[in-house]
Amino acid sequence: MFQGFARVWTVATAQKLAHDRPLAVTVAGERIVFFRDREGRARALLDRCPHRGVALSLGTVRDGCIACPFHGWRFDGEGRACEVPYNPDAKRELLGATAIPCEERVGMLWIYTAPCEGGVAPEPFELPGLLGDTSLTHVVDELVWDTHWTRAMENMLDWPHLPFVHRTTIGAALARELKPGTRMDILTEPNARGVVSTSTLDGEARPGGLDWVQPNMMVLHISSEKRVFEQCVACVPIDDGHTRMVLTGSRGFLKSAVFNPLFRWSNRRIAAQDKAVVESSWPAEIPDGGAEVSVRTDRLPLLFRKYFHERLKPSSAEAPRRGLKVVRE
Ligand code: FES
Ligand SMILES: [Fe+2]
Repeated sequence: MFQGFARVWTVATAQKLAHDRPLAVTVAGERIVFFRDREGRARALLDRCPHRGVALSLGTVRDGCIACPFHGWRFDGEGRACEVPYNPDAKRELLGATAIPCEERVGMLWIYTAPCEGGVAPEPFELPGLLGDTSLTHVVDELVWDTHWTRAMENMLDWPHLPFVHRTTIGAALARELKPGTRMDILTEPNARGVVSTSTLDGEARPGGLDWVQPNMMVLHISSEKRVFEQCVACVPIDDGHTRMVLTGSRGFLKSAVFNPLFRWSNRRIAAQDKAVVESSWPAEIPDGGAEVSVRTDRLPLLFRKYFHERLKPSSAEAPRRGLKVVRE
């Protein structure tokens, strides 16, 4: 399960979760169903009924439980079977669905990519960057790119593409300064959540910093002394050919929500420039070893490549055995 993306916290989606309807989202090839429990809290289960494998997301939500559309079994937010129609004597403790740890924060649904008893993750959830700062205005958006998530992620960690891909937007200043012989250096420092990076041009520090928050988030710091501004992008694997790009911007100026469409428009314009290039990368997934050549300024993507091939690519969460058993009574 979650092949190549197991046992990590990730945004799943920025789609809104209604109070009375389930929401189906695929992450790393696994279908997840979100719904709200009795307290209104977002909960997540594998979108697969333990009885006959039907998608629970086709069912209904009532009294904080989700009902399977096939035989009406109902499951709560921890996956417990609350009701098994026509079988009042069933051993319901053996008939549960599979709970996935879930958090709803800043308009996004986050999951831990492994089945966990009661939906409790073995690692604490932490919001990256300034997303937890309630004094700022946060704008959230999501897009789908036709690419493997590793290509999208490398693009996010790549400094030298800015004056080429973004010469009409965020790379305009770099494009003007780029001369034959200009040297860029990328400085990286590991921290508890990934790697922080800055750049220099001919030895002079450039403004801004770009952090990689493992496994799949980029945080771009473009604050000045006068204003706070930070952008995050999460590259969420859907399947081998599709990536959900969840874009967030956090700002301490123009804080009224009436400006949100403007910031959303700007983010989409920049993302469209990346998309046009990144979707052409082949092979779809970043290759291991020396199949592609690299240079000094690829330092940050190369750190990501190492992490992907050593930590994530071999990972797979164990499929729950519960629900595959024949229950004799
Ligand atoms: S398949 Fe879900 S209750 Fe039978
Ligand atoms: Fe870019």
